[in-house]
Amino acid sequence: MPELSVVIVATDNEQRTVLQVLVDGTSVARTVHTCASFPVAAADPIVRRVQAASPDVMLVDIPADNPTPAQRAIELLHQELPDSAVFAIGSLTHPQVIVNAMRAGAREFIERPTTTTDLLEAFVRLTAAQRRVRQEGPRGKVFSLVNAKGGSGATTVAVNLALALHSAYGNTALVDLAPLGHAALHLNLKPLFTVADATRNLHRMDASLLESFMTRHGGGLQLLAGTNVPAAQEPTSAEFVRLFDMLATHYRYVVVDTSTRLDAATRLVANLSECVLLVAHTDVASLWSAARVQQYLGETGNRERVRLVLNRFRKVTGFSESDAEAAAGAKLLWRVPNQYFAASAAIDRGIPLMEHSHTEIARCFAGLAQELTRDDADVKRAAWSLFKTV
Ligand SMILES: Nc1ncnc2c1ncn2[C@@H]1O[C@H](COP(=O)(O)OP(=O)(O)O)[C@@H](O)[C@H]1O
Ligand SMILES: [Mg+2]
Repeated sequence: MPELSVVIVATDNEQRTVLQVLVDGTSVARTVHTCASFPVAAADPIVRRVQAASPDVMLVDIPADNPTPAQRAIELLHQELPDSAVFAIGSLTHPQVIVNAMRAGAREFIERPTTTTDLLEAFVRLTAAQRRVRQEGPRGKVFSLVNAKGGSGATTVAVNLALALHSAYGNTALVDLAPLGHAALHLNLKPLFTVADATRNLHRMDASLLESFMTRHGGGLQLLAGTNVPAAQEPTSAEFVRLFDMLATHYRYVVVDTSTRLDAATRLVANLSECVLLVAHTDVASLWSAARVQQYLGETGNRERVRLVLNRFRKVTGFSESDAEAAAGAKLLWRVPNQYFAASAAIDRGIPLMEHSHTEIARCFAGLAQELTRDDADVKRAAWSLFKTV
């Protein structure tokens, strides 16, 4: 592994010194420059000095009492030095600070107090990812599914969308984050490992370990199975971010079923998603619930990304699609026809709807996959990153 050059940006003198000792202690990186204040504009001499140091990594310390200037500095440095990676250092107690830092362009969020091991792991991940990007191209896209209320069809849509993406483009993973995972049942799989095993082992995760936690479906779709124990121990936000970072590095498309789960993890996954598909029915209670879920997810800046999927769609006289959009507070993305017998038989037999390829409902999911990947040729060229706002 080549030695990485690091610039440290920290307003707190002690923290700056500590970080320098830790960086140099990793023995894979060296501090080449330190800054005692945050740059505020592109023309700021601080930016020029950082550029002159041409670092591989910029460590930006986010003070707990005033995170905004640090977040702006991350955005600015990321913009002005697009080839250098920004690692944010801060407290893990405020998920919003983590999300803002990632959105501003930070590639890692490292907990304070930081250890040499934390930094070493992050440096190793960076080098490994750079190697992979050079070999395998850009990062994958995440699509997540939430339902307006239980039974709306989130799992059905997630499973069939994942199969449709896999059959069109290959290299797709389905991640089951529902409170009780049903995706394995839909696919007639008996997983040996679940998402809990993956989050427990993040500290030593690499491509082959991640693969060993996945369960392969006949056609090649990879499932990271959900929990079969309600209320199992919840991973921290940082672990989730890291898991999805890993997944997006290894798979071209990652479909996440969160079903009825409404917590920090769902919000975080929504933040990391290209599109959040909110599955509802065309009735008052369902659309009312959809609006509440939309509001909950929208609080962390996802409003535009949450799109409505009307499952078991039926035309209601006097109630248009724009009425449904207004009631749910989200733009309509797709309609899925109402085919109760086919849908329930598919689950009972573990043979998903997508496997009956010439049916209307299979074509519907294939169409949804196409709609979601419409812009992908451009995305590929732009070397899209999971944490950038688009
Ligand atoms: N397009 C559809 N038409 C008819 N019934 C459906 C359709 N999609 C799902 N269902 C039925 O709705 C039930 C709930 O679906 P599921 O995907 O488990 O919802 P959720 O994950 O939102 O709780 C299933 O038993 C399934 O048979
Ligand atoms: Mg479900």
